[in-house]
Amino acid sequence: MAHVFVSRGLAGDALDRLTEAGHDVDLWTGNLPPHPTELRDHVAAAHGLLTTLTERVDEQLLDAAPQLQVIANYAVGFDNIDIAAAEARGVAVGVTPDVLTDATADLTFALLLAAARRLPEAAAAVTEGRWRSFETQAWLGADVTGQTIAIVGGAGRIGGAVARRARGFSMTTIIVGRNDNLHEALAQADFVSLHAPLTPATHHLIDDAALHAVKRGAILVNTGRGGLVDQVALARALHDGRLAAAALDVTDPEPLPVDDPLLAAPNVLVLPHIGSATHTTRAKMAHLTVDNLLAGLDGRPLPHPAAASKK
Ligand code: GLV
Ligand code: GLV
Repeated sequence: MAHVFVSRGLAGDALDRLTEAGHDVDLWTGNLPPHPTELRDHVAAAHGLLTTLTERVDEQLLDAAPQLQVIANYAVGFDNIDIAAAEARGVAVGVTPDVLTDATADLTFALLLAAARRLPEAAAAVTEGRWRSFETQAWLGADVTGQTIAIVGGAGRIGGAVARRARGFSMTTIIVGRNDNLHEALAQADFVSLHAPLTPATHHLIDDAALHAVKRGAILVNTGRGGLVDQVALARALHDGRLAAAALDVTDPEPLPVDDPLLAAPNVLVLPHIGSATHTTRAKMAHLTVDNLLAGLDGRPLPHPAAASKK
C-alpha cells in the first residue's frame, strides 16, 4: 500500500480509484492550498503526490519527501515543479495534456471577443442603469472577423486549437515559434494570444520593448502563464493607448491583489485562471492525474509524462 498526498479536492470521483487500488489517500480538505510548511509535513511519508499549480515543488520539498516516486500535476503546465530536481531523485512527473485543450482555446476566444467588443463595460452599463437608448456611438469595439492574430508560443496543442478557431473567423494567423521574429509579428497583429510555456527563456517575453513593437490599438490575450508578461510594462501600454485592451486568464502573482496597479489600467479584463474550468474537462483532468499516480506507484512509465510535453 502506498501513501498519496492530494493537495486539493477534485471534481468527480477519480480519487476513489486510488483507494480502490488499495492506496492510502491523505486528502487536503482546505479550500486554500496547503502552506509550504504544511505541504512539507504531508509529503514526509508520501509515495505519491497530487499537486496543482499553486504548489511549488522545489529541491527543499523533494528532500522532505524521501519516499516519493511520482508527482501528478493537475495541469498541463508544470512550471511549478523543478523537473530537473525531480528527475535527479528518480521522481516521475506527470501532467494532464490534451483534455483541456479545447476548453482553454474556447476561453481564449471568449476573452478575445469580450475584449474586442467591450462586453464587461457594456454589461456594466446595463446593470448600473446607464443604458438609456440604442446608442449610435457608445461601446464601439474592434472587428474580429478578418483581422490578424499572432499566436505566440507556436501551434502546439492549445496554440493550434486557437488557430483553428481563428480560421473560423476568417482571421489571418501568424504562428510565432521560438525561432521566429516576435517583434515583427507583433507589429502586424491586431490580436496577440500567448501560448508559450513559462520557462526562464519566456519569462517576460512580452516586455516593454515587445509592447512598443505592437501595432497601435492591438489587443493582448493571455491564457498561458502570467509570467510571460511584464505587467508593469503592460499597464503602461494600456494607459498610453498603445494596446486597446488586455484580457488575461493568468497573472503574476495569482491571485492578483485587488490593489494591483494593473487593475487600475484602462480596458483590462482579468479572470481567475479558469481556462480548464468546465465540468467535463476538470473531471477528465482528474482521471489523467490518477492514471499518472497509479502508474508511478506501480513503477510503470507514466502515461502522460511532463517530459513529453516539453517543447
Ligand atoms: C493550467 O493553467 C494548466 O496548466 O493546466
Ligand atoms: C499546451 O499544452 C500547448 O501545447 O499549447
